[in-house]
Amino acid sequence: MMIHAAVLRDRTGPFGIEEVDLAAPGPGEVLVRVAGAGLCRSDLMPRHVPIVSGPVVLGHEGAGVVEDVGPGVTRVRPGDHVVLSYDSCGWCARCLGGEPSYCGQFFPRNLSGRRVDGSTSVTDAGGEPVAARWFGQSSFATHCIAAERGLVPVDASLPLETLAPLGCGIQTGAGTALLALRAGAGSTLAVFGTGAVGLAAVMAAAAAGAREIVAVDTHPKRRELALELGATHALDGADPETAARIAALTGGGADAALDTTSVPEVVLAAVTSLRPRGTCALVGSGAADVVLPPRALLGGQTLRYVMEGDAVPQQFIPVLIALWQNGRFPFDRLVRTYPLSGINDAERDFGNGDVVKPVLVPAA
Ligand SMILES: NC(=O)c1ccc[n+]([C@@H]2O[C@H](COP(=O)([O-])OP(=O)(O)OC[C@H]3O[C@@H](n4cnc5c(N)ncnc54)[C@H](O)[C@@H]3O)[C@@H](O)[C@H]2O)c1
Ligand SMILES: [Zn+2]
Ligand SMILES: [Zn+2]
Repeated sequence: MMIHAAVLRDRTGPFGIEEVDLAAPGPGEVLVRVAGAGLCRSDLMPRHVPIVSGPVVLGHEGAGVVEDVGPGVTRVRPGDHVVLSYDSCGWCARCLGGEPSYCGQFFPRNLSGRRVDGSTSVTDAGGEPVAARWFGQSSFATHCIAAERGLVPVDASLPLETLAPLGCGIQTGAGTALLALRAGAGSTLAVFGTGAVGLAAVMAAAAAGAREIVAVDTHPKRRELALELGATHALDGADPETAARIAALTGGGADAALDTTSVPEVVLAAVTSLRPRGTCALVGSGAADVVLPPRALLGGQTLRYVMEGDAVPQQFIPVLIALWQNGRFPFDRLVRTYPLSGINDAERDFGNGDVVKPVLVPAA
């Protein structure tokens, strides 16, 4: 079928809205009419890292309505409302162990722009293949072919454009705080970088009753927003004394820290802000090498990467929706909607820090 999609052809150029041909859903795939798709920092990765070759349709925080299902699909049917999250195989040791974000096929299924067999569902007007199935979806489009494994059915009364960012950025921040770092009642958490991921961690830790939540950002508006959303303190990331200030605020170091910046000096500050045996989670997609002196971990601290908040989307996203409905997780405050045709404006405003979470809405 013919659809419209935002295609990135030149890694340094703008997105262009093109009419492209979308194949019918294959085995384990679903055709979704996209109602909205969030822009995550990871959508800009192909601009900096050569992970996908040729033109590509990005977008991996989609939400929409199922229009058709491919062979073998059993969990959804046409008309169902769904949030789209990442793909996984379902059968490797990590998937069977309930850790699908560490699936042995995570990279080929989510970051290659191809199906596992190397094919793609999108063809351009000249008949050339266009990379798709980005995080099992490629939702910067009016319609997409999504992996059944990444679908989270939601109640049809809920606003799909608002729910869209749950599929990656919001799940990642909240999951890292609650599932990976166990930021529960009475705990202390330092969050470095308060974009969508960091602010979701702040809101989730506040909802869980964390005692001190220290937000660190170089952007003054982000610090203000973090305080409004539950941070107990907000510090300027440019201050070289940040780690010492966090140690003072938490009575000897934070139980846990989260770095979303990938800036090597910030990662060092995040590790240094921990108490003995504390844990620092990295989630950023930046590629710079991080150098740590062994003494940074002398207190037996743990440093680890966290993918998608350690979350199983079908378990965790309904929890976040319930918290949001109860007024305890107001992630909708981060969202500003743009028409899909305004994707380049959305990228500009996101890059300036003017908007935390743009959501692109295809024309009806
Ligand atoms: N691991 C995963 O599963 C996963 C999922 C989603 C996003 N990500 C990655 O997580 C990162 C964060 O995503 P986001 O959408 O929140 O990005 P973002 O760009 O909106 O947020 C980053 C924040 O860091 C702040 N910052 C930059 N330099 C700083 C410094 N020196 N000190 C303090 N703050 C600083 C920025 O002002 C911004 O508010 C990105 O790299 C993204 O690709 C990873
Ligand atoms: Zn797997
Ligand atoms: Zn993402």
